[in-house]
Amino acid sequence: MFSLLRKTRIGRTFICTASLVSTSMLFAFSANAADPIVIKFSHVVADSTPKGQGALLFKQLVEERLKGKVEVQVYANSSLYGDGKEMEALLLGDVQFIAPSLAKFGQYTKKLQVYDLPFLFQDISAVDKFQQSDTGKSLLKSMENHNITGLGYWHNGMKQLSANKPLHVPRDARGLKFRVQASDVLDEQFKAIRANPRKMSFAEVYQGLQTGVVNGAENPWSNIYSQKFNEVQDYITESNHGVLDYMLITNTEFWNGLPDDIRDQLSNILDEVTEHVNSKAGELNQTAKQAIIDAGTSEIIQLKPEERAEWVKAMKPVWDKFEDDIGSDVIEAALAVGN
Ligand code: LMR
Repeated sequence: MFSLLRKTRIGRTFICTASLVSTSMLFAFSANAADPIVIKFSHVVADSTPKGQGALLFKQLVEERLKGKVEVQVYANSSLYGDGKEMEALLLGDVQFIAPSLAKFGQYTKKLQVYDLPFLFQDISAVDKFQQSDTGKSLLKSMENHNITGLGYWHNGMKQLSANKPLHVPRDARGLKFRVQASDVLDEQFKAIRANPRKMSFAEVYQGLQTGVVNGAENPWSNIYSQKFNEVQDYITESNHGVLDYMLITNTEFWNGLPDDIRDQLSNILDEVTEHVNSKAGELNQTAKQAIIDAGTSEIIQLKPEERAEWVKAMKPVWDKFEDDIGSDVIEAALAVGN
């Protein structure tokens, strides 16, 4: 057991007693109502992306509507914590909100791996329908035993394959080194096409691609453009083979420890922000795609139907490996509403 007494940057004091073993935490907000509650929102992408825009809109609305009561500090582009550290920081109470990609929760629940299965969702509207279904919503609560509460899903978009050589069919990727997020499913996805996956944090990808530590990657257009991956990838295949979306999460005990009226107002604001992010994500990705075309850095490859069928055939066997962990009921629910 260890105890910490923290003082937020601008004064409101809360006591956090945590056990390293149980990670159980107790947050008690001080009675000094003059000091705003500080919410630190840390993420790894650029301000211009769907998640970046969502974080800034959340800050704006909270500061308009809860002026003097809540202050939001947004840290973009891994400037406070990168991939590896942001979850740990959330559990320790060093940040209050993060929105990791759904691929990054494997340590806390296996069920969310459903989102990484290649070619499970036709498009982002199929993903959206699943997220709004009873099963999708129940996954927001699937990590409460770890003190993690899901507050909503935010879209980014479908992933595209990028590489330093043209990828038309799976055999073109053989032997190439692909950066993957920290997901066992994505690891297997690249092994299935006889490529070499390498787990790497988001902040390291540009340099990894530039120096040849990896030869390719997968990301939605908004991430490719805002991180300048297109400047170090000559080819992008519009594969739409999987989804990269987020779960906005908070520390359960922080959230439950907020005064009821503040929590209710934050919830309402989050609903509004979530709707905004999800209605704008497609447009932001299309704008990023167009910007890449205009920049002329990379050839964009469209798959012929028979080429796409080869990717599906090569990657889909990955589903079987994860069915027991994810639960066939969850996969079926995704298939039922999604396509
Ligand atoms: C990635 O690591 O590629 C993404 O999860 C980054 C992000 O947050 O969009």
